[in-house]
Amino acid sequence: MPYQDFKNPATAQSWDAGNQGRNPSRSEQLDMLLSIIADHYQPGKTMLDLGIGTGLVEEMLFKRIPQAQLVGVDASSAMLELAHNRLQPYASQYTTLIHDLSAIDSLRLPSHPYQVIFSVQTLHHLTDTQMKAAYHFIYNTLESGGLFILLDRIAVKQGNLFSVYQSLWARQDALYQTNVHSWEGETFADHQRIVAERGDLPMSLERHLQLLKQAGFETACLHLQTNRALLVGKKS
Ligand SMILES: C[S@@+](CC[C@H](N)C(=O)[O-])C[C@H]1O[C@@H](n2cnc3c(N)ncnc32)[C@H](O)[C@@H]1O
Repeated sequence: MPYQDFKNPATAQSWDAGNQGRNPSRSEQLDMLLSIIADHYQPGKTMLDLGIGTGLVEEMLFKRIPQAQLVGVDASSAMLELAHNRLQPYASQYTTLIHDLSAIDSLRLPSHPYQVIFSVQTLHHLTDTQMKAAYHFIYNTLESGGLFILLDRIAVKQGNLFSVYQSLWARQDALYQTNVHSWEGETFADHQRIVAERGDLPMSLERHLQLLKQAGFETACLHLQTNRALLVGKKS
């Protein structure tokens, strides 16, 4: 797959229409993320979504938590335009900011008590240094007791284990009529090339947990499906 330029309206449209097929874990892991938020969100507080995209997650969130208040950040006005169309019924419950998360330190958020921050399939666009800054920003933005939840692609680092990942992607393909095992690459070299060409910079699971701890979070991996992880960080 070529470089994904989310600022291009055609890419925004096609990603919005086809995201599920390339990631059959998404709906279950999103349901897990929403279940955690539904149990922990305190009405009157604010959530922050880093990489709101076309508002797919928020549509589910507002249906599940009718009183939710949210700020969404994204670098792409093309993605945000689709989000605004989708989220018209919830217009009073969210605001958006256009900002590049690779420069997160210059992000100025509206002044609210941020109790939940989440990010879905977005932060793998940041470098290791930018991720470090992002985790510090998230920690400093959250109020005490607040939760950060990450659902994202993580790196496949060990070429010797690639065939094992392939078995599970092929299993998913049989279960969900998808094509993940060829979309991720037939060989480890293919996989690395595809990830690089798409412009993705996924970090290993271990590195995520290390950086979250360094930022001050108590952290855990809650769910892992091959290279798709659901992580939590709690600010004490
Ligand atoms: C794969 S989409 C996911 C959107 C949404 N979270 C979802 O799961 O439906 C990735 C989003 O991240 C945004 N994005 C990627 N890199 C970014 C960056 N450096 N700063 C801000 N947004 C970025 C893109 O514009 C896009 O909307």
